[in-house]
Amino acid sequence: MEERVKCTSLRSRIKSAKEAASMIKTGMTVGTSGFTPTGYPKAVPEALVEMVRDDDDFRINLYTGASVGQGLDGIMAEAGIINKRMPYQTNNSMRKALNSGDVHYTDIHLSHFAQQIRYGFYGKVDIALIEAAQITEEGYIVPTTSVGASPVFCSEAEQIIVEINTGKPLDLCGIHDIYQPEDPPNRKPIPLVNPVDRIGKPYIEVEPDKIKAIVITDQEDDPIGFAPVDENSSKIARNLIGFFEKEVEEGRLPHNLLPLQSGVGSVANAVLKGISDSEFKDLVFYSEVIQDNVLDLLDEGTFRFASGTSLTLSPDGFKRFYQKLEEYREKVLLRPMEISNNPEIIRRIGSIAMNTAIEADIFGNVNSTHIMGSKMMNGIGGSGDFTRAGYLSIFTTPSIAKNGDISAIVPMVSHVDHTEHDVNVIVTEQGLADLRGLSPIQRAETIIKNCAHPDYKELLNNYLKNIQNEAPHTPHQMSRALSWHEKFVNTKSMR
Ligand code: COA
Repeated sequence: MEERVKCTSLRSRIKSAKEAASMIKTGMTVGTSGFTPTGYPKAVPEALVEMVRDDDDFRINLYTGASVGQGLDGIMAEAGIINKRMPYQTNNSMRKALNSGDVHYTDIHLSHFAQQIRYGFYGKVDIALIEAAQITEEGYIVPTTSVGASPVFCSEAEQIIVEINTGKPLDLCGIHDIYQPEDPPNRKPIPLVNPVDRIGKPYIEVEPDKIKAIVITDQEDDPIGFAPVDENSSKIARNLIGFFEKEVEEGRLPHNLLPLQSGVGSVANAVLKGISDSEFKDLVFYSEVIQDNVLDLLDEGTFRFASGTSLTLSPDGFKRFYQKLEEYREKVLLRPMEISNNPEIIRRIGSIAMNTAIEADIFGNVNSTHIMGSKMMNGIGGSGDFTRAGYLSIFTTPSIAKNGDISAIVPMVSHVDHTEHDVNVIVTEQGLADLRGLSPIQRAETIIKNCAHPDYKELLNNYLKNIQNEAPHTPHQMSRALSWHEKFVNTKSMR
C-alpha cells in the first residue's frame, strides 16, 4: 500500500467502500472517472446501490467522461437511483431507463462537457469519484486506463473519493498527459502542435485535502469484446482506403495521411483493419479510444504513435499492453477528453475524422444518435468534435439495416447530429460519395448513385424526381420527407 498511497498524510483516509459511499447523499452530483467501460469506479457504486436499495427517494446526478460499464451505469440504472445522466452512455439498462423517461439524459459534445462543467453551466459537482493507480507523495492522482473528464471533476468537486485499483499495474504511471486549459478571457493557445507532444503532467494535480476517502479495490472492468469484421464492413473499408489513395495521388493528403480519428463499432474496426492491410505506413492516431487493433497497428509499424483518452482493450489486449508497457509508453499517451477532443487542436493538426452514422439523408445530413427519430441509441460522443473541426469529415454506414427493412440513406434524416455543412464524405459498402463542393441537388444525385442500396435506389430517385420542381435549392416535400420512417414504424419495413 505504501507504493499505492505514497502521500503519508492521506493514508489515514483509507476507508471501506461502504464508508465512502455514505458520503454520497440524495440530490448530489457525482462526477466519475471512466471513458468507455474502462477506468471507472466500481467498489463505491456497488456499495452505494446496496446501501440505498430500499430508499425510493434516493437520486443522484451521474456525470462521467463518456460511457462506463455495467458496474456503474448498469447497476445504478437498474436500481433507479439516477436523476440526470451526462454526457454519453452505451449501457443497455441505462439506455432503457433514459428512453422510458426514468432518467433525464443530456447528450453533449464531449469537448464541450469538461469546459462547461468548469464554467458552471450544470451546477456544482459535489463529489469526484475517481479510479486511480496511485496517489503520489504530493497527494496527486494517477488515473488508470482512462482519463476522460477526471481532471475537471477533481478541480471542481467539493470532495474527492479515490478508488485505488490494485488490479491495474503501477507501471501505468507515466502514460498520462494531464493538461487543463484556462477559461476565457484568459485562455492561451493549447501548446500541442504535434499529436506526439507532451504538454502536461503525468498526474492530476488536486488539493490533497479534498481527498476525503480512499478505497482499495481490485475489481475488474467489464471485459470488452469486439464485433467481428463482416463482409459489408470490409467493403466500406476498401472504399475508404481507395479514397485515401486517390487523395494522396492527387496531392490533397501526404503519403502518411494526417492524424486519424476513428469512432467505435464494427465498421470502425473494419476501417482500421483495412488500413493495416493497405500500403500506408508511419501514420499517427489522434483519437479517443485505443482498442486492440490500434496495438496491432503500432506493433506492425503502420502507426507510429497513438494518442487517446482511454485504453479500451480486451482482456488479452490488456495482457499484451501490460507485458510491453515500457515499449508502449513511448508510443501511447492518454489525455483528458478536453484535449483529445479539442476542436482547436483537431483543426490545427488536420485530423481525418471517421465516424459511423445510423442514417444519412440525400443532402448529406447525418443522424448518429436516434433510432427512428426518437429512441436514443448512445449519444453524439466525440463525433461532432472531430467532424466539424477536422481536415476531412467522413461518415461510414452499411446502406441497409435490419435485413434490408431499413435504408440508411433516406430522404430526410429523422434527427440531425451532423449537418450537410460538416459532412465531406459518406461511405457505404455500395460506394463512396465525395460531397466536397457539391450543391444540394448534386449531393443527392451522388449519394443515391454511389451509396444507396439497389433495393432503395429507385425509390430515392423517384423522391428526388418528384420534388425537384418544388424548390430550386434544397427541395423537399414535407408530407413525404419522413414517410419512410413512418412506414417502418407502422409496417416494420421501409420498402
Ligand atoms: N435505423 C434503425 N436502426 C438502425 C439503423 C437505422 N438506420 N442503422 C443501424 N441500426 C441498428 C442496428 O440494426 C443495431 O440494432 P441492434 O442493436 O438491435 O442489433 C443498432 O442500430 C446498432 O447498429 P450497429 O451497426 O451495430 O452499430 P455500431 O456498433 O457500428 O454503432 C453507432 C453505430 C452510430 C450507434 C455508433 O457508432 C455511435 O454510437 N455513434 C455516435 C457516437 C460516436 O460517433 N462516437 C465515436 C466518436 S466518440
